[in-house]
Amino acid sequence: MAVAVSLARRGAQVRVLERGLHCGQGASAAAAGMLAEGAEVTEAGPFLELCRASRALWPSWAEELLLTTGVDCELERTGLVRVTSSEEGALRLERQAKWQQSHGFEVSSLWDPSQLAKLVPGLGPSVLAGIHYPNDGHVHSHRVVDALVAACEVHGVAIETETEVTALESRAGRPRLTLAGDRVADGDYLVVCAGSWSGRLLGAAGGAELQVEPVRGQIVAIDPGRPMVPLIVFGDRGYLLQKRSGLVLAGTTEERVGYQPWPTVVGVSGVAAAAAELMPELAGARFADAWAGLRPHATDGRPLLGRLEPGGRVLLATAHYRNGVLLAPITGELIARAVFEGVDPKELAAFSPGRLA
Ligand code: GLY
Repeated sequence: MAVAVSLARRGAQVRVLERGLHCGQGASAAAAGMLAEGAEVTEAGPFLELCRASRALWPSWAEELLLTTGVDCELERTGLVRVTSSEEGALRLERQAKWQQSHGFEVSSLWDPSQLAKLVPGLGPSVLAGIHYPNDGHVHSHRVVDALVAACEVHGVAIETETEVTALESRAGRPRLTLAGDRVADGDYLVVCAGSWSGRLLGAAGGAELQVEPVRGQIVAIDPGRPMVPLIVFGDRGYLLQKRSGLVLAGTTEERVGYQPWPTVVGVSGVAAAAAELMPELAGARFADAWAGLRPHATDGRPLLGRLEPGGRVLLATAHYRNGVLLAPITGELIARAVFEGVDPKELAAFSPGRLA
């Protein structure tokens, strides 16, 4: 939908073909909504640059969505503490902070529990040390989906729900889709944004090497009845953040279990236990909800962005894995440029689907 909005804002006529009843109900709506490259990216290179560029776009992107649609993405620049419960973890975080400081991250040096307690009262006794990223934050992923659906409407994007694509081919250089129910759809360009289902779709079109594997992540929502997680707490076994509504989201798992997008007994209890270890007061708090989503993972773990084949009219915007919400603004922007400029922008070179061929 970010791609659709970016294209439509530049004047393209756009159709979104959505298999489900509503858009964005896969990984997007399941996401905790962290904008946290500090905790997620620990090596230099194009992926770090992409994450940074997207995070820099987020404030104006959210503002623009608010102005256009009236929907607030609830962007919170709370900061994040990456904490650990082991001596070995503390050494690793110390090394990480030093490396990141030398690569332009805003990150503190290693803090002890008393320093951490000043920012996050209520951390459990197992927490030994942590590092602080003052610029990380989060958005409300449901609000983001709502805002994008509304922005699609404002910009004249046609959203066609309950529309399943069963085959993809090229006719006279134009992408052509077969839809369930013996219908077809075509256009000058096709952008595949099918998350964990992208590989299946491309396999049907002969791109069998472009596998996108689903990696399930489970979230537990807790209602503690008061503000208690002032910033993101990211531990060895899970993370916590509190939304404006007061709901605390605890994540997560990484499970390769195929297409099973539901929370499980073992997953939910593990995530809840990790949450209560990070903040013991949560152990007795009200359980509110649990859900799961399937993160789309390409074989090298990096997004697939840009033309499927040089000069072609099929583009990919998928496999964002753990960072789809963070990368939404830059993805929309760069894919729209790729379409309108006729070549993929240089920022996409490292994410070209061709790298996996
Ligand atoms: N980025 C957090 C997650 O994938 O769980």
